[in-house]
Amino acid sequence: MIARAVDANRVAAESHRITLVAQTDPDAVAWGDESMLVTAVHNLIANAIQYSPDGTRVGIGALHRDGAIEIAVTDQGVGIPESERERVFERFFRLDNARSRQTGGTGLGLAIVKHVVQNHGGEVRVWSQQGHGSTFTIRLPQAPEAAAVPSRGART
Ligand SMILES: Nc1ncnc2c1ncn2[C@@H]1O[C@H](COP(=O)(O)OP(=O)(O)OP(=O)(O)O)[C@@H](O)[C@H]1O
Ligand SMILES: [Mg+2]
Repeated sequence: MIARAVDANRVAAESHRITLVAQTDPDAVAWGDESMLVTAVHNLIANAIQYSPDGTRVGIGALHRDGAIEIAVTDQGVGIPESERERVFERFFRLDNARSRQTGGTGLGLAIVKHVVQNHGGEVRVWSQQGHGSTFTIRLPQAPEAAAVPSRGART
C-alpha cells in the first residue's frame, strides 16, 4: 500500500529533484479499503513534495507499536504555523503563503485524509516547525494476527 502511494508520486518528486525514502516494517498490517488508504497516504506524500523546496527529501515510514500502525510522512518543507495546524484538515482551507499560491490546489487533500482515516478507526496528526518541515502521522488499528492474510481488503 505504501509502495503504491510512493510510486504514484515518483514523477512529481523527480520533477522537483525530491528524493522519496520509504522504510516499511512488513509486520505493519492494517485492515481496510486499500484504494482509500492509498489515496490518503498519496495525498500526504503529494503535499510533502508540493510544499518543499526542490532538492529536499521526503521520508515515508510505517511501523507497528502498541496494537497500532503508524504511517509517517516527513518533509523538509515550508512548515505550518501553529495557529493553522488544525485548520489544514478543513475542506478548502489553504495557507496563504507563496508556496500555496504557486502550486494551486483545491484544499481538499487533507480533508480526505482525515475522513478516510477516521472511517478506519484511526486518527491523523501533524507536527511541524515553520521553515523546517512537517510530519503527518496516520495511526490505524493493527489487523489481528489471524487476519494477517486477507482474501479481501488491504495489507499495508
Ligand atoms: N506538508 C505540508 N507542508 C506545509 N504546508 C502544508 C503541507 N501539507 C498541507 N499544507 C498546507 O495545508 C493546506 C491544505 O492542504 P490540502 O492537501 O488539504 O490542500 P491543497 O494541497 O491546497 O490542495 P489539494 O486539494 O490539491 O490537495 C495546503 O494548501 C498547504 O497550505
Ligand atoms: Mg494537497
